[in-house]
Amino acid sequence: MDGFEKYYRKNWEQRLEVLIKQAKLNKQQVELLKINAQDPNLGETMIENFITQYSLPEGLALNLVVNDKEYLVPMVTEEPSVIAAASHGAGIVKRVGGFRAKIHERLMLGQVVCENVSDAVALQTYFKENESSLLDCANQAHPSIVKRGGGARWLRSRVLAADLVSLDLAVDVQEAMGANMLNTMLEAVAQKIISECNQDILMSILSNYATECLVSATCQIPVNALAKNGISGEKIAAKLAQASRLAQLDPYRAATHNKGIMNGIDAAVLASGNDWRAIEAGAHAYAAKDGQYRGLSQWYVEGEVLKGELTLPLPLGSVGGSISIVPLVKVNHDLLNFKGAKELETVIVSLGLAQNLAALYALVTEGIQKGHMSLQLKSLAVSVGAKDTEIAQVVQLLKQQGLRDSKSAKEILKQLRKE
Ligand code: MEV
Repeated sequence: MDGFEKYYRKNWEQRLEVLIKQAKLNKQQVELLKINAQDPNLGETMIENFITQYSLPEGLALNLVVNDKEYLVPMVTEEPSVIAAASHGAGIVKRVGGFRAKIHERLMLGQVVCENVSDAVALQTYFKENESSLLDCANQAHPSIVKRGGGARWLRSRVLAADLVSLDLAVDVQEAMGANMLNTMLEAVAQKIISECNQDILMSILSNYATECLVSATCQIPVNALAKNGISGEKIAAKLAQASRLAQLDPYRAATHNKGIMNGIDAAVLASGNDWRAIEAGAHAYAAKDGQYRGLSQWYVEGEVLKGELTLPLPLGSVGGSISIVPLVKVNHDLLNFKGAKELETVIVSLGLAQNLAALYALVTEGIQKGHMSLQLKSLAVSVGAKDTEIAQVVQLLKQQGLRDSKSAKEILKQLRKE
């Protein structure tokens, strides 16, 4: 496809023209790309081959109280029920005192992987004996972080196979998520190892398995606060604990359990301008930390109280990356009203636990579909072309007739328009 050669060198307008000529888009479609592009200059600075801004709905989760402070949490998601569920879960916990959350440690990890190692013991000895000069080398590669009170903190090495050794570097990256900083430091350390040991290096890269950046949220709910529709709180609490046990035992359930947690975490991470794929990768690796994939949260009953706990790696930044360049991220930070990366992490881990509580609560009581239905029917109505003025009627008729497929929705819309 000729027009796509050196596509990145074309300007935005030229790129869109190519789409008409070579990708068979029509004029209206290209117009849609133009309208949504918002600020093409910004888009061009962020990614290659920019054509438009793809937007998702953003809403606020309410009721989230963490360490005695209430937060408004901007969430970006396409899934209809996520924000309602987060506010619901947070509301249950707010009524009984809110979440407590804490940071265990906040260091980012990266690795320099040595290959074709002939003597792993000798290499490990070199790392031990040269620890301080290797740390100095990392710090010299990024002196500004040292000035801000951060910097390389420690090293460890792991023999992965007789010929493959990983040197792991832990860095205090202060307010940033620190990926670039870490990669720069790691590459400098790799050069030093090459020159001093004549050692082959396979790669130097941060690890998203951020085990030195764990965050926990807990909550305690008197069981009587869980009673619903004539079902006792005690019974619901017991079922929630059983649901938690299930996610510890069964990876099939654990994946869905954790997906529910990440529904909240990803949406808030995205709105905060952070890299949600990094958080996803770390969370799932941590879920398999003992060799079996398990639920990240645990719920159990002690006396008359249901206790919930969620721990996961959550390396979020309050500065850096897209954070300082996307104007909406600044608005979201102001809405969140937090003081630094650590506070942001405590809020988002608590949101994950709230999201999980709401999902499990629905699953063990009325089932998930009832609460989701209104929003799903709305999406269905929109997907078949209902206009703003028609959506409510289509939803009502679908509900009345117990229908939820798009063929029926289309039919209902057709009928309505005839009338
Ligand atoms: C749906 O997006 C998330 C849930 O499946 C989570 C869960 O099952 O715990 C409802």
